[in-house]
Amino acid sequence: MPRPTATAAIALVLGLLPLASIAAEPDPAARGRYLLAIGGCNDCHTPGFAQQGEVIPEQDRLTGAALGFSGPWGVSYPSNLRLSAHQAGEEEWLGKARRNGLPPMPWTALQAMSRDDLAAIYRYLRALGPAGNPAPAALGPGQALPTPPFVFVPQPPTSGKTSLR
Ligand code: HEC
Repeated sequence: MPRPTATAAIALVLGLLPLASIAAEPDPAARGRYLLAIGGCNDCHTPGFAQQGEVIPEQDRLTGAALGFSGPWGVSYPSNLRLSAHQAGEEEWLGKARRNGLPPMPWTALQAMSRDDLAAIYRYLRALGPAGNPAPAALGPGQALPTPPFVFVPQPPTSGKTSLR
């Protein structure tokens, strides 16, 4: 006959195992939210965030912007990340996030992220759900401008200094 104390101890440990694994498993969507915050992604991908910051409600964020960035590449518009994640499966979205697109999107930051971190961002975007309209399509150099963009062109200094260093 098995000793009752040992049986009880084993039953207790087995009973607690599922709880322990839940506690050890971090919520990927919460991690994605954190990564987007420390990555400064809202500054470009949330309209008005660079100017107003945290007052913009979470459900209104990451919907892309019609305020473009103009430079030698033409004009790029920060994508609506809510729609982007909603319209793609996880693998497809990771591929889109790791490609080399137009400036000033910090593509190398996404390429440097671990697969788990990028997938956590995807899951957070999916959890937020789709919202807003697609950002305007990028324009090639010299195309007519339908909206006023930020201009990314080095300006001559207005003090006596002439070096960029
Ligand atoms: C300085 C502005 C800026 C910042 C900051 C920025 N982005 Fe972007 N992002 C853009 C622009 C502009 C595009 C569109 C580029 C293009 O058309 O090739 C873009 C495109 C993307 C795309 C491609 C979406 C698709 O469906 O093709 C992803 C994903 C993305 N950004 C994620 C992020 C994440 C995550 C962060 C924070 C770590 C971030 N971005 C920070 C400007 C920015």
